[in-house]
Amino acid sequence: MTRVAIVTGGTRGIGEAISLALKDLGYTVAANYAGNDEKAKAFTEATGIAAYKWDVGDHEATLAGVAQVEADLGPVDVVVNNAGITRDGVLHRMTFENWNEVIRVNLGGCFNMAKATFPGMRERGWGRIVNIGSINGQAGQYGQVNYAAAKSGIHGFTKALAQEGAKFGVTVNAIAPGYIDTEMVAAVPAPVLEKIVAKIPVGRLGHAEEIARGVAFLCSEDAGFVTGSTMSINGGQHMY
Ligand code: CAA
Repeated sequence: MTRVAIVTGGTRGIGEAISLALKDLGYTVAANYAGNDEKAKAFTEATGIAAYKWDVGDHEATLAGVAQVEADLGPVDVVVNNAGITRDGVLHRMTFENWNEVIRVNLGGCFNMAKATFPGMRERGWGRIVNIGSINGQAGQYGQVNYAAAKSGIHGFTKALAQEGAKFGVTVNAIAPGYIDTEMVAAVPAPVLEKIVAKIPVGRLGHAEEIARGVAFLCSEDAGFVTGSTMSINGGQHMY
């Protein structure tokens, strides 16, 4: 029986590339999404990968969504916590809602998905969890206290859960993407984005597939000795 993987936010952007990379690895993939039905339908038609709709920031909805995936496809062995949103703005103009929504979805989503899947992985003695952090969680970013805090939290979450999973064959790692040519980055005002790209040593935005290849490695059998690590894929924009 093939292993089952869930990719949250898996029908668009970086998540879409990750869903395809895990399918290429031979996994049966379920792509979660929260809002865009039209895009999810087109994604399933184009790829044959089933899409499941729920809000990963909603604890009960996540438990129910994962239960549905398991009823349809079997136990989940691989989770990629990719779903994320931005609500950028300088702190003095940021609303509590914009703070809370980003923490709820980006960081809360990781907790909710882990609660739904980690106990099963632990019992079966094998699992892969990859959390998508961000360069902006490592280095901070003007106008993103909410997003930087959530992504930074993801890096701490990863290292803590990795310690709990290690002796049960469950690895937990993070990828910290830099600026990738997705809709999320396209929403950054052009003059601001130009200045950011000028600071990327490789001289360009990254591609979603370049993140997906890193995720695929961390989800593979070969990566069993890699846990609690963060792989930065950012064109050299932030090194440490
Ligand atoms: N450092 C210092 N000052 C900065 C700055 C920076 N990085 N960016 C902007 N400023 C300054 C501006 O120069 C300006 O100052 P002056 O008025 O003195 O000229 C002031 O801050 C206000 O700037 P804006 O006109 O841009 O202010 P705004 O309120 O219209 O917009 C903002 C603020 C929404 C934060 C906007 O600057 C912005 O969108 N910035 C980009 C944020 C960003 O990088 N988001 C990443 C999204 S993609 C992502 O998050 C994926 C990932 O993981 C990488």
